[in-house]
Amino acid sequence: MNDPQKRYLFAGASSKIAIETANLLRKKKNIVMGISTKNNIEGYDSVYEVNNYNFGSFPEITDGIDGIVYFPGTINLKPFHLFTEKDFLNDYNINVLGAIAFTQAYLKNLKSVNSPSIVFISSVAATQGMPYHSSISAAKSAIEGLTRSLAAELAPKIRVNCVAPSLTETTLSEKFINTPEKLEASQKRNPLKKIGSATDIANAIEFLLSEKSNWITSQTLSIDGGMNNIKL
Ligand SMILES: NC(=O)c1ccc[n+]([C@@H]2O[C@H](COP(=O)([O-])OP(=O)(O)OC[C@H]3O[C@@H](n4cnc5c(N)ncnc54)[C@H](OP(=O)(O)O)[C@@H]3O)[C@@H](O)[C@H]2O)c1
Repeated sequence: MNDPQKRYLFAGASSKIAIETANLLRKKKNIVMGISTKNNIEGYDSVYEVNNYNFGSFPEITDGIDGIVYFPGTINLKPFHLFTEKDFLNDYNINVLGAIAFTQAYLKNLKSVNSPSIVFISSVAATQGMPYHSSISAAKSAIEGLTRSLAAELAPKIRVNCVAPSLTETTLSEKFINTPEKLEASQKRNPLKKIGSATDIANAIEFLLSEKSNWITSQTLSIDGGMNNIKL
């Protein structure tokens, strides 16, 4: 028997990982709504266009929502002394404050269904020290802290988890893998000798949204070919 149809809402709907997650869920007859700063995004049952992910920017939705995922993210890498206050604030705003504003906006919708789930997206850079990653590391570490804190506060009603990818083939990472040499170097650095695909990450998000993960909360799941824990 199929699981009952569920309704999901994704912020940052243009993300390649988001579109792939929507694809997996819609194949199973679920409804997936998107929110994006871009227009003409395909792959969703409906898409709301917003100007930004600030507090007060999110459309009102009256019905229950079974799961939300906040996808927007940045990748601004440079030596620490070159980062400006504006750089740090921009990364924090998009990666962290947006996730908070989005979650606050739809808490009521989540609380009105049976087994709601929230998923955030971190990065291997939150737990593995890498040069030039100070800004994104600080922002994604905040997301992992937010995951644990909200998981405690919203238990037992709402589960809150996070996925932490390593380098994954999307527009965001394109500049790091846009030549055969760069791609090969990235693949070699990874314990499983490959970079991630959007499907690799989407499979994990789908799991954390689904009833199959109904005894999992507060976790950050590394989806990274072992990058975070293994040194070969
Ligand atoms: N790709 C990787 O190697 C990698 C590794 C670790 C973590 N991640 C994380 O994975 C998540 C999804 O990214 P992706 O890899 O799927 O990349 P992507 O396809 O390039 O998507 C970019 C995402 O960021 C949003 N975005 C871009 N610029 C923005 C801005 N100026 N203000 C607000 N939102 C902006 C987009 O939202 P709109 O729909 O509004 O355009 C979209 O959700 C991000 O949180 C990222 O940090 C990716």
